[in-house]
Amino acid sequence: MKKEKIILTGDRPTGKLHIGHYVGSLRRRVELQNSGAFDKIFVFEADGQALTDNAENPDKIRQNVIEVALDYLAAGLDPTKSTIFIQSMVPELYELAFYFMDLVTVSRLQRNPTVKTEIQLRNFESSVPVGFFTYPISQAADIAAFKATTVPVGEDQEPMIEQARELVRRFNHVYGETLVEPEILLPDNAACLRLPGTDGKAKMSKSLGNCIYLSDSADELEKKVKSMYTDPGHLRVSDPGKIEGNTVFTYLDAFCRPEHFERYLPEYPSLDELKAHYQRGGLGDMKVKKFLAAVMQEEFTPIRERRREFAKDIPAVFEMLRKGSEQAREVAAQTMAEVRAAMRINYFDDQELIASQSKRIAEEYGL
Ligand code: TRP
Repeated sequence: MKKEKIILTGDRPTGKLHIGHYVGSLRRRVELQNSGAFDKIFVFEADGQALTDNAENPDKIRQNVIEVALDYLAAGLDPTKSTIFIQSMVPELYELAFYFMDLVTVSRLQRNPTVKTEIQLRNFESSVPVGFFTYPISQAADIAAFKATTVPVGEDQEPMIEQARELVRRFNHVYGETLVEPEILLPDNAACLRLPGTDGKAKMSKSLGNCIYLSDSADELEKKVKSMYTDPGHLRVSDPGKIEGNTVFTYLDAFCRPEHFERYLPEYPSLDELKAHYQRGGLGDMKVKKFLAAVMQEEFTPIRERRREFAKDIPAVFEMLRKGSEQAREVAAQTMAEVRAAMRINYFDDQELIASQSKRIAEEYGL
């Protein structure tokens, strides 16, 4: 049988998705979904993982499950092509994580650079919740339970996918070939690896207030673009300006296509020419920002409008999630049956076990 190509990816539902999520993963997912190159696509909300550092605030997760589902649908994920589900509604994922925990050491987990940074960020140093510390294991289980071959995520997730590959290899080595080693699929455009916040800071984050959300209105988007961080040394229009670290140009790298020039800025043939003029001097920030705003409105207006349409029937969105979770659960349960068989803990399905134990114990008792 030809090996199926299976995508699995997801997000923690801790807030609405922003355009960093969109260029970093969401846009690609939709392309992959529509490419027809994959046999199955699973996209999920990792609410269990979100709880690992929000245990005392489950309401935050509860509120955002629907927001993220709306963001997914708005961006173009289509439940007839992709199975969209909620992690905690598929308890098999936690079951697999429990067995994975026996196949990895504490010191290996401590080496995970993403978790290290996250622990510092949350001031968890002396009091890391065990669940948070071990979430890479749970994430490996999410991936392995669906026998995912391809995991499209941002670069910060690289250590997680490496961990998942190691765990799959280790499982297959110990218990026999059962699970599938996943490959990471990184964004293809360098500007998309990590879109900076509108203030130029390295990361978009809700707490920094530097995000543009998929749900932002046209006005909000416009305002945020107009107040974006550029080159602080570019004081007069005639001054030469810097492109590096200039958020407006980073965003243009992520969003601008050649045809945008014809439509919104016909006096420039290409992004390279626009950049060259800025660097030479004589090109004002506002002109570039206006262009960026037009480019971004074009990309986000249809998304914003779709989101509004889906928002009209929230029970239907929950129903979509329920159906997706049921479908996902069937797949994960099938993998768990194979996992239990490989681990020889499928006691009740194993007639040979029951027969051989009867025989052995009968002999012991002389029955
Ligand atoms: N850790 C991912 C994030 O924070 C979310 C996630 C959980 C995930 N499980 C996954 C992504 C499995 C890909 C595959 O964005």
